[in-house]
Amino acid sequence: MEISRGSWGTRMGFVLAAAGSAVGLGNLWKFPYIAWVNEGGGFVLIYLACIAAVGLPIMLAEILIGRRTRLAAVGGLGAAAGRRWRLVGGLGVATGFVLLSYYAVIAGWSFAYMARCLQWSVGGYPNGYDGVAAFGALAANGWVQVALTALFLVATASIVYRGVGAGIERAARVMMPALFVILLLLLVSAMTMDGAGQALSFLLAPRFDHVRAVSVLEALGHSFFTLSLGMGTMITYGSYLGRRESIVRTSMVVVVLDTIIALLASLTMFAVIFSIPGLSDRLGASAVGMLFVTLPELFYTVVPAGALLAPLFYLLVMFAALTSSISLLEVVVAYLIDERGMQRKPATLTSIVAVGGLAMLCAVSLGAWGAASNFELFAGKLGVLSTLDHLVSNGLLPLGGLGITLAAGWFMTRKATEEELSVGAPGWFRYSVWRFFIRFVSPAAVAAILVAVIFFGRDFS
Ligand code: TRP
Repeated sequence: MEISRGSWGTRMGFVLAAAGSAVGLGNLWKFPYIAWVNEGGGFVLIYLACIAAVGLPIMLAEILIGRRTRLAAVGGLGAAAGRRWRLVGGLGVATGFVLLSYYAVIAGWSFAYMARCLQWSVGGYPNGYDGVAAFGALAANGWVQVALTALFLVATASIVYRGVGAGIERAARVMMPALFVILLLLLVSAMTMDGAGQALSFLLAPRFDHVRAVSVLEALGHSFFTLSLGMGTMITYGSYLGRRESIVRTSMVVVVLDTIIALLASLTMFAVIFSIPGLSDRLGASAVGMLFVTLPELFYTVVPAGALLAPLFYLLVMFAALTSSISLLEVVVAYLIDERGMQRKPATLTSIVAVGGLAMLCAVSLGAWGAASNFELFAGKLGVLSTLDHLVSNGLLPLGGLGITLAAGWFMTRKATEEELSVGAPGWFRYSVWRFFIRFVSPAAVAAILVAVIFFGRDFS
């Protein structure tokens, strides 16, 4: 029974929505940070190899499962590969639920900093402002954290509530082009600064002297996160894709866009950082620090047209986070619609209330509430938010990704997968190459991450 599941209005709609899911805090926050810590060039090459060898094949697998079955994560995996695979889909729904609950907290900070920057752009950046202390105070203020997180969740839900075409697609159509324009403005400004050349060579010169085995696994883990793989997001989005669209072409566009945006964002930030003598050595090893402490100050002190660009920058972060969070919520909502027979509106309300509960706990786990902030289940991961991120990035996403590669490579028929991927495929595409990757290369690589995490306690969050 095909009840109003919804579908994309146009091919561009799917591409923008899927790229919107992929481009998020992972690109603007995580990638620049890990590229920085791993000293650029060599690491970037390894990351690109992981995207091509593992990310792209799994992206194709997820989309084809969704399009083939016209069902979201749980039903899609079950119908494509056999009843037992519903479990992998269920894991994905649970992962989306948890991921959204802490993603919303981090995204909420971009609201706060946009507001702050608007103030500073008008009234001037305060003299002797202590960015570190100010951020710490914001994070530890329970009521403010709860309010920001709730605001972000309400924004997310109000889009998903309107459905696939009128909600998700329309939002992506507005926010993705805006995001791209803002990023280009920032890039142009940063490229006029003295550090531009150094940033370029830092990012692109293939130096491998700092690359260790761990870096390879870190690059692999991040390729899952940044492409929204491993929990059925792309299965769900693929289930709304028209029969005549080429899965290979659309996936290529999404993967290339995601990669370009991560690289341009890093280039922009590094150009600014290298322009201040001595700053690159002082910069602490903190992702939060880069985005919410270092950059605000630099915008108002050294960046050309910074007062104009600073609020726009946080708008960019907000847009990127929002198009990603709607894809996380949609995984949960689509499950309720497909498997529980709910209508979209009640399904959205139910999901957001449930996610909200866990999100509030994350929101007060940065110092506001001692019991949620101070326990340490995994070494170095203090409080609920960090613990959940560790669990998701290092355990649940790779595990889900492994399940999806096995389902598509070993439990679906060759006929089914080949049919889906051949529709409108470009001339260079070879089905047998994909099949080799999805059966052997991708599962082996993902298994390597899991082994590293479980037996050697490596952390890729
Ligand atoms: N890809 C997004 C980012 O880079 C986050 C995200 C959205 C995600 N949906 C996902 C990550 C599904 C893993 C799985 O910020």
